[in-house]
Amino acid sequence: MWLIDPQFSPLKDVPGPDSYDNILLGDIGKVVRSRLSSVYEGWFAKYGHTFSFRSLFLSRILCTKDPKAVAHILNHAYDFPKSPDTRKFLAKMFGEGLLFAEGGDHKRQRKILNPCFSSAHIRELTPVFYDKAYELRDIWLRQIEEGRLESKEIDVFVWLARATLDIIGLAGFDYAFDTLNQGETDELVRAFMDLFAPMQNPPTLAFVVAMIPLLRLFPNERAKVTARSTAVMTRVGARLLQEKRAAVLASASSADGVEKKSVAGNDLLSVLIKANMATDIKDSERMTNVEVIGQIYTLLIAGHETTSTTLTWLLYDLAHLENQRVQAKLREELQSVTTDRPTMDELNALPYLDAVVRENLRLNSALDGTSRCAGRDTSIPVSTPYIDKKGVERMEIRIGAGEEIILPISLINRDKELWGEDADEFKPERWLEGNAHSRSSEIPGVFSSVLTFLGGPRACIGYRFALLELKVLIFALLRDISVELPDPAPEIEKKSL
Ligand code: HEM
Repeated sequence: MWLIDPQFSPLKDVPGPDSYDNILLGDIGKVVRSRLSSVYEGWFAKYGHTFSFRSLFLSRILCTKDPKAVAHILNHAYDFPKSPDTRKFLAKMFGEGLLFAEGGDHKRQRKILNPCFSSAHIRELTPVFYDKAYELRDIWLRQIEEGRLESKEIDVFVWLARATLDIIGLAGFDYAFDTLNQGETDELVRAFMDLFAPMQNPPTLAFVVAMIPLLRLFPNERAKVTARSTAVMTRVGARLLQEKRAAVLASASSADGVEKKSVAGNDLLSVLIKANMATDIKDSERMTNVEVIGQIYTLLIAGHETTSTTLTWLLYDLAHLENQRVQAKLREELQSVTTDRPTMDELNALPYLDAVVRENLRLNSALDGTSRCAGRDTSIPVSTPYIDKKGVERMEIRIGAGEEIILPISLINRDKELWGEDADEFKPERWLEGNAHSRSSEIPGVFSSVLTFLGGPRACIGYRFALLELKVLIFALLRDISVELPDPAPEIEKKSL
């Protein structure tokens, strides 16, 4: 990215701050240290929908919330790949799965993975979601009844993270982590936790180490932990793959090859292995073993904390005094259902639950933003013209090959121009019929008009899984349990690292 001399960058004429904090870091230190997105928020207020700022070695980064520009970048996903540094990081942490793949490899992997995430298949996983949701509910109820908890306070994040990890283990790979009962004792869970343990380094330093390959050559404790964890993950992944493949083959009914309905298990990995072995795809389209193992860790990371974090924020929002009315209305709807295990369609037919989930996803995006880079020198169209630094009105942004782009998901999800003046408020009613703000539909999200699952060919493949999981957990937990903040309420702030 810093191969482009910043003086020649086409982004130099895009509005944005002229000065910067530091000649080595540009303004990155400020962005990383401050409350999530707050620096971007200030720059949007000052410079409009699109601005550029200085990053490492004074390279320029583009940041835009213009809906047409965002749609263009997302819909032309292969022209705006992840940067080489991001991909190096992804490969090291999760292997060569879907989050890492680009271009033809991504298209090929996604084609094989898509059927695993169809509505029809996700529906089959519903019992796993309910089993774990009720297991968690019962643990909470027992803890409350036995009075084992001081003033009945529960750190819901820890428990929700365990529930979602158990769910992705079973639904994803038929693997019982059983963290709800055993805690984090499984070797794979331990490796996973170590990998994502909060960074010991100050955030700015951690960012610089991540971005400058040379600095990673110096020995540091995190590098050793990462190496240890990835070794365990690779070993367990290879074993899982071998076991699943053997089970799929054993259940294949005839010597004609693997047929559609012959899968041993319903878990995502079994379905993936079967699709990858199907006789009707070309050898050149099949995933390699390294790619399949990469999917295991990609699904683990992408499908675990995202959901538990989202749900934790929902419980936090509902626990506020001013939202007790919303919580009561939601509970009334949930209690009106006469079965303990409504089907996916029955859950989807509950309008207030649906509105609460959408509003939660809008306000509490698990990813605050994402980044891409320009694959070549190109132009990005905008819907709102801007005046460049030379005073010329522009309808497009020119960007050079390799230059980075930030898509500020959370800020777009609460942009007042798109959502109205009450955009920052938790208001499920906005999703009920006839209440939507007219401009929110300009947001190019794969689900609803929120950008939380992103959009285009690289949108979250697991969004249907996540929606059903969220709804089942909310149904099982909030029918019987109400949530309040402890007194005094903790101060919680969102930060990027
Ligand atoms: C509330 C929960 C979730 C949220 C908010 C979420 C959000 C996202 C976002 C924003 C991306 C795009 C990341 C980027 O390209 O920068 C993504 C990608 C992805 N997500 Fe999710 N996700 C959630 C749950 C899940 C679940 C449950 C799974 C799997 C079981 C999953 C699997 C994936 C995968 C494999 C990708 C990579 C897609 C690709 O690059 O083609 N996600 N997710």
